[in-house]
Amino acid sequence: MALNIVIMAAGKGTRMKSATPKVLHKLAGRSLLAHVLQSCEPLAAQARIVITGHGAEQVEAAVAAPGIGFVRQMPQLGTGHAVQQAVPVLQGEGTTLILNGDVPLIETATAKALIDACAGHALVLLTVDLFDPTGYGRIIRDPDDDGVLAIVEHKDATPEQRLIHEGYSGMMAAPTGALKRWVGQLSNANAQGEYYLTDIVAMAVAEGLPVLGIKAHSETEVLGVNDPVQLAQLERAFQARQAEDLMRAGVRLADPARFDLRGTLTHGQDVEIDVNCVFEGRVELGDGVRIGANCVIRNARIAAGARIHEFTHIDGEAAGASIGEGALIGPFARLRPGAQLGAEVHIGNFVEVKNSTLAKGAKANHLAYLGDATVGERVNYGAGAITANYDGANKHRTTIGDDVHVGSNCVLVAPVTLGAGATIGGGSTITKDVNPGDLAVARGKQVALAGWARPAKKR
Ligand code: UD1
Ligand code: CA
Repeated sequence: MALNIVIMAAGKGTRMKSATPKVLHKLAGRSLLAHVLQSCEPLAAQARIVITGHGAEQVEAAVAAPGIGFVRQMPQLGTGHAVQQAVPVLQGEGTTLILNGDVPLIETATAKALIDACAGHALVLLTVDLFDPTGYGRIIRDPDDDGVLAIVEHKDATPEQRLIHEGYSGMMAAPTGALKRWVGQLSNANAQGEYYLTDIVAMAVAEGLPVLGIKAHSETEVLGVNDPVQLAQLERAFQARQAEDLMRAGVRLADPARFDLRGTLTHGQDVEIDVNCVFEGRVELGDGVRIGANCVIRNARIAAGARIHEFTHIDGEAAGASIGEGALIGPFARLRPGAQLGAEVHIGNFVEVKNSTLAKGAKANHLAYLGDATVGERVNYGAGAITANYDGANKHRTTIGDDVHVGSNCVLVAPVTLGAGATIGGGSTITKDVNPGDLAVARGKQVALAGWARPAKKR
């Protein structure tokens, strides 16, 4: 049976006090709307239609993908008016599921339960028992058989109705044909002068259609985001859920309340993560990996036995970063896109590595920069050494052979190659290739203004 999904996302979200449309605010690194779209992806709908209004262009650009359609609602005259805009694109006689773009943690299983209960002929509401139902539409049930009779909006409710703690979550599944007909009959004669989608409940009851209320099993999955407080509460709830899943899978988190995953984290056995770490994008941790406190790690693969010490920042961006088995990184290290570190590499404090390959056992332990470099095995790269890889217009490579020793405070002016086993004296500026095994010392007089250094001197 045909399934349409309508996601309402035209509202303004005034209380976010932000120029960003509300549904584009991020929860665990993805927009609220992206969460909703993702949770209904497995439902295999023939169409996922997003109703946009405030910030429509931005919203549409942010989530555009095959199989996602957009309908604009201008101006926004209420949830019933929102669904009216979608009527022309609703297909078939099956079921239409209505979700909210600002209720990000709706679970696929719950959405599926609504669709199954609807089966193209019943109106099914997702409801929730709330400690404080202020602001919510109240579910009015028949005292005799508990059947749902109507939803009354908070502002239209009588004092007695306001005592009801069962609220409407804003999500429902409806028979598509009937829904189209009902939303055409809505009026805005109510406290807010809006077209309420919730008024279709009384219409269904009047037509003798079955109206069911299914209760959400957690408040979290029906909570909407209206202000930064609610956004932070849902973020914590989501992070707690992820942290628990990881711990159940054997990852030892020093404190699940101080753990943030904004993406996917895959892991082997015996992995330990200290407090205040943030993982973003795709991160892979091999067996026995240890992550110290206060690390930020994005788009990286960390092989078995590697240790990432405190305050390390790894950002592979699109290119990714990889860290070999048994490597020691940090504290205070910075790995950037294209950093590919072999087994047992050591990168110490205040060392930056970008677009560089370091072979097994290479070490840069203090205050150094390696950019666009190929570094051989067992190289020792001294404190204050840098690759001058950028001439203001182009980037050039530096190649450092196996067993090279680069002394402190060296400038390797790329393109340049240091042959295997060469030694570069401390304080040298190297502008010419150095032969394998040679000692190169090049320092001193810079030519004023011209800005070039004396070529490497061979001894
Ligand atoms: C709505 C329900 C209420 C329910 C509550 C749950 C109605 C009339 N009321 O209340 O029973 O308890 O949700 O949070 O449906 N939107 C549009 N276009 C509009 C108006 C809203 O797209 O013209 C979107 C909003 O962006 C939001 C969703 O619809 O994603 C709900 O809007 P909101 O204003 O939060 O609904 P309420 O009126 O508070
Ligand atoms: Ca609301």
